[in-house]
Amino acid sequence: MTEFFVIAVDGPAASGKGTIATGLGRAFDLPVLDTGLLYRAVGVLTHRAGEDLDDEAAARAAALTLTADQLEDPALRTRAAGELASRVAIHGRVREALLEFQNTFAQQEGGAVLDGRDIGTVICPDAPAKLYVTATPEVRAHRRWKQLGGQGEEVAYEDVLADIRRRDARDGGRDAAPMKPAPDAVLLDTSEMTIEQAADAARRIVEAARARWESSR
Ligand code: CDP
Repeated sequence: MTEFFVIAVDGPAASGKGTIATGLGRAFDLPVLDTGLLYRAVGVLTHRAGEDLDDEAAARAAALTLTADQLEDPALRTRAAGELASRVAIHGRVREALLEFQNTFAQQEGGAVLDGRDIGTVICPDAPAKLYVTATPEVRAHRRWKQLGGQGEEVAYEDVLADIRRRDARDGGRDAAPMKPAPDAVLLDTSEMTIEQAADAARRIVEAARARWESSR
């Protein structure tokens, strides 16, 4: 049993997991780490250094230089950064280089919320609360298309849908920590939900997990 109340929120691109994780952090008064930002930062740093994204050693070197303040860079939120992230995320040695940062964050007094692809399976397999958030590719593409438009990045819906499908295939098909639900994760399909409904459903699932966790301590 873990001493920290860790909430693991995994799922594919634009499933709503980021908003859900932020809402859970507020509801349970816990700090939140969007682990996708780590991979986005490594992708952007590798690209800016003029290195090949398929070069595992170069991407790992970028991962080793990463500092927390670099995660604030708005460039990490772009469509291009998402693609760079999923390309460097296939490398086992990049994932290994980002382990300590994530473990330290997870082991804070009181607990933490982490969202990503492998939190419940690899980073925090003992987390007392695990969610796997999904939605259909079309719904996710629509959400991401609206979000990018709001950031001033105009792009065709069909192109966003193609991005989502490509990333699902790459993230789910890689050998190193592939995206998949942990056996003990609660699945939350948000396709037919507003983001408020999804956040409410997530909170109820985690309240039940917290009650179980407290009674087992
Ligand atoms: O926001 P979105 O879901 O589009 O992406 P993200 O969570 O920022 O993650 C970007 C990419 O980083 C994903 O497509 C994954 O390839 C990778 N990633 C990962 O491999 N493991 C994580 N824990 C988080 C992200």
